[in-house]
Amino acid sequence: MSAGVNFEIRSGVALVCIDNPPVNALGAAIRQGILDAIDRADADAGIKAVVLCGRGRCFSGGADITEFGKPRKQPFLSELITRIESAKKPIIAAIHGTAVGGGCEISLGCHYRGGDRTAQYGLPEIKLGLLPGAGGTQRLPRLIGVEAALGVILSGDYVDATSALSQGFLDEIVDGDLVEGALAFAARIVAEGAAPRRTRDIEIDPADTKSIFADARAKTAKRWRGLIAPERCIDTVAASLTAPLADGLALERKNFDELVQSVQSKAQRHLFFAERQAHRVPGVAKETPTIPIRKAAVIGCGTMGRGIAINFANAGIPVTVLEQDKAALEKGLNATRETYAGSVKRGSLAAADMEARLALITGTTEYGALADADIVIEAVFEDMTVKKQVFAALDRVCKPGAILATNTSSLDIDEIATATKRPESVVGTHFFSPANVMRLMENVRGAKTSPEVLATVMQLSKTIGKVGVVVGVCDGFVGNRMLYAYRSQAEFLLEEGALPWQVDKVIYEFGFPMGPFAMGDLAGLDVGYMVRQHRRKTKPTNDRYSSLIADRIVERGRHGQKTGKGWYLYPDGGRTPVPDPEIEKLIQGISDEMGIRRRPIGDQEILERCMYTLINEGAKILGEGIAARPGDIDLVWVHGYGYPIGRGGPMFHADTIGVGTVFEAMKKLHEQHGEMLRPAPLLEELAKSGKSFQDLSS
Ligand code: 3HC
Ligand code: NAI
Repeated sequence: MSAGVNFEIRSGVALVCIDNPPVNALGAAIRQGILDAIDRADADAGIKAVVLCGRGRCFSGGADITEFGKPRKQPFLSELITRIESAKKPIIAAIHGTAVGGGCEISLGCHYRGGDRTAQYGLPEIKLGLLPGAGGTQRLPRLIGVEAALGVILSGDYVDATSALSQGFLDEIVDGDLVEGALAFAARIVAEGAAPRRTRDIEIDPADTKSIFADARAKTAKRWRGLIAPERCIDTVAASLTAPLADGLALERKNFDELVQSVQSKAQRHLFFAERQAHRVPGVAKETPTIPIRKAAVIGCGTMGRGIAINFANAGIPVTVLEQDKAALEKGLNATRETYAGSVKRGSLAAADMEARLALITGTTEYGALADADIVIEAVFEDMTVKKQVFAALDRVCKPGAILATNTSSLDIDEIATATKRPESVVGTHFFSPANVMRLMENVRGAKTSPEVLATVMQLSKTIGKVGVVVGVCDGFVGNRMLYAYRSQAEFLLEEGALPWQVDKVIYEFGFPMGPFAMGDLAGLDVGYMVRQHRRKTKPTNDRYSSLIADRIVERGRHGQKTGKGWYLYPDGGRTPVPDPEIEKLIQGISDEMGIRRRPIGDQEILERCMYTLINEGAKILGEGIAARPGDIDLVWVHGYGYPIGRGGPMFHADTIGVGTVFEAMKKLHEQHGEMLRPAPLLEELAKSGKSFQDLSS
């Protein structure tokens, strides 16, 4: 049979198996293979039914994403699915692992769907800036109802076998061998004389759907702010209520074609591949063995420590938490329970699951309790002396080969490693706050960190549902180093004439969840103040001084939301920032003090100065080898700082606007503001050779 699709006949049933590792993506050859198989089965009078399954890890991961943006090749997926649906013989999809995107849509064209306990279905196209483009928007609402279908399409999340059965997506869950079960199912329906049951023939009752759509639009506007695809998904699903299938499919195709060309979808597809490419770490061979993580430990049960512990417990890994004394331990464990209780209250976690997860978290004040941990993550105060004491203690008690990780956000991993006799086991695992929510893990490679340790922490990132990125040692690593450059620029703008709410509005409208000043208030301004006092001792003399305003604000006792005021006012204990005339006065006073004549600053200038600085710092980081590729930086910013996904991250955004444009703007900024804004050598090199950041990845 055709390459990538196997065909055999078993007792009058055609078993058609997609065999295209690693995820049975539905490239042109596979689509042709399935089409040939269906034609053959329909033409063969001896064949009474067809079972369609996937070989390897899943049924199918959907359309081949690498084909997007290239000329479309026949047979088109949508037409193949129409052909499957129109087949004369009953076709049963036998699903194991994921049936997602086009894989899910193929199963919707089949007449019956069975799955084993590992089966999951979903339409993740929204996460690629797309909509389901092969009938998903038309058939899923017919099969499981409009509300449930919108839920699946607008979240992009995968639905497990049990829920799929109760929704009516799966007809049966097979315990035991899936293919045998599906063949038996086929034999049964053949014996019953059942005809093909076509999803397209299911009628939808359009009554009472008005509020469902209104609700979906409201939620979408909030969750996917600024993105086009979600709106298009809703519009297209709406067509399934009123239009015949063919018209609905035509609209779906039109909208899909438009989206696939959009910058947003290109950006989201870039992030999809960047996430996977990040696992190819230079110097760490693919076959590098990983250390099994069966038991974990966390030192410090403060803000970060408990979030990290929750990550382990959520993944079913027992974790021991060590605090400096019983009181701190009790406080930390109580706060951990409260975090879980919050999830139960919001309905995102069952009470029984909370107890099961809490049972995996054990508290201690004794280092001896860490002797059998496979990984220990330190999250104590950001102080080199304290960290070194902790690592020396870990070196004494931890078993050979255990990973000794630090969550430091800025300190030198190599210096921390000197407190041990096993620097090869020391690594940074930099989580972002709140650690149980934010998806980024900057895994910091020390000079002596072994490949096994790096491979293991990258694997661990995946196990606990994080996006792992390997970065090198420097002040602030990738994320915070870039944040520092961007924030400084935002503060220069205040000195020159802008106000915090103007800067924040521009950044919010660009797509960030909030601007740098509102973000500072949320995180707390006192920590940054302390870091600046320390940094000032080593600050290069030719660097323009900034942060005078930020310092004064903290010195007035304004530490952000927690004190009810910071850059903004937060009246009545609220979280909504309110502009404060006192801050305006303070800023104006400082401009006068600095001898700066304030001028009106336009939104475009704010945007360019903030975003180009971010890009420039990213280019320096790439040039220094602190990040291996532009996509790694993009992942850090999207998953650690809320950079808008539809723009693909700072480096992808640079390519969108043109590296040359950024370079010219940086040259001017450098002339105006000094050394800190000198264009990165790599930016200059790319601009002069007409290349893009993307060219560095290929
Ligand atoms: N097309 C092309 N390549 C794909 C792919 C796809 N749909 N899905 C996964 N891959 C590749 C990955 O890039 C990766 O390649 P690499 O090894 O060279 O880095 C490899 O397959 C393995 O992927 P994962 O590391 O993600 O493997 P997992 O086993 O962890 O997960 C999966 C498997 C659950 C299928 C996961 O890959 C996934 O969720 N994929 C996304 C699926 C998706 O978005 N599908 C929708 C496609 S768009 C579509 O179908 C449009 C249609 O509506 C017309
Ligand atoms: P925190 O102050 O909330 O918690 C630190 C905890 O460590 C406290 O509970 C303290 O009792 C405990 N501790 C201190 N010394 C100890 C010791 N010798 N042994 C055992 N426990 C000890 O601090 P937070 O915010 O959780 O930060 C921890 C680390 O994470 C720091 O290195 C920080 O830079 C880093 N980090 C913090 C982020 C944040 O947003 N808070 C983000 C990313 C990293």
